[in-house]
Amino acid sequence: MVTRMHRKKQNGHRSAIIWFTGLSGSGKSTLAHAVEKILHQSGHKTFVMDGDNIRHGLCDDLGFSKEERYENIRRVGETAKLFIEAGVIVLAAFISPYRAHREYIRGMVQQNDFIEIYCNASLEICEARDPKGSYKKARMGEITEFTGISAPYEPSKNHEITVPTGTKELNACVQQVITELIKYDITIP
Ligand code: ADX
Repeated sequence: MVTRMHRKKQNGHRSAIIWFTGLSGSGKSTLAHAVEKILHQSGHKTFVMDGDNIRHGLCDDLGFSKEERYENIRRVGETAKLFIEAGVIVLAAFISPYRAHREYIRGMVQQNDFIEIYCNASLEICEARDPKGSYKKARMGEITEFTGISAPYEPSKNHEITVPTGTKELNACVQQVITELIKYDITIP
C-alpha cells in the first residue's frame, strides 16, 4: 500500500491543510492563490479550494444558514483530508465564520495538519472594497444572513497565523505567510 509517508518521501515535503478564514472581501482567496504560486513554483504539490470551485460544484445545493455553512465546511474538510492522504498541501479559503466549525475540521485531522490563518481585515475595509457588490446588497436586504452585516463572524483564539490583509499589501502578506509556515514544517527549499 502506498501510504502518506511514501508520498511525503517522494514529494520531498509534507502535506497539510492551510485554512484561510475571514470576512468576505478580506483577501482569503487572493492570498491563498498567491501563497500557492510560491509553493508550486518551488516544487510543492498544492491545491486551492475556495468558494469559486466548491460552492459551484460539490456544495452547489447549499445556502448560508448556520447549518448549511457547517455542511459546506464539513464537505470541504472531508475532501481536504483526502488531499492530505494524497500528499498535497491544500489551501482552503472560506469565510468559515463559526469558531466551532473550524475547530471541527481541526479535530478531523492530525495535530499540526491544520494551520489556521486569520485574514484580519475590518468590516469597514471589506465593505469599502466590496468586490462583488455583496455588502451593498446585504445592506439593502437583498442578501440575507450576510457575514458581518446580518450574520456573525467569530474570530478564533488559537489560530496559528494572523495576517493583516486589510492594511498590508498582498506581497507583504504573502511573505509573512511563507516565513511563518516554516514554523509548521512547510518550507521553501
Ligand atoms: S462560508 O460561510 O460557508 O464559509 P463561503 O466562503 O463558502 O462561506 O462563501 C462565501 C461567498 O459567498 C462570499 O464571498 C459571497 O460572495 C457569497 N455569499 C452569498 N451569500 C452570502 C452570505 N449570506 N454570507 C456570506 N457570503 C455570501
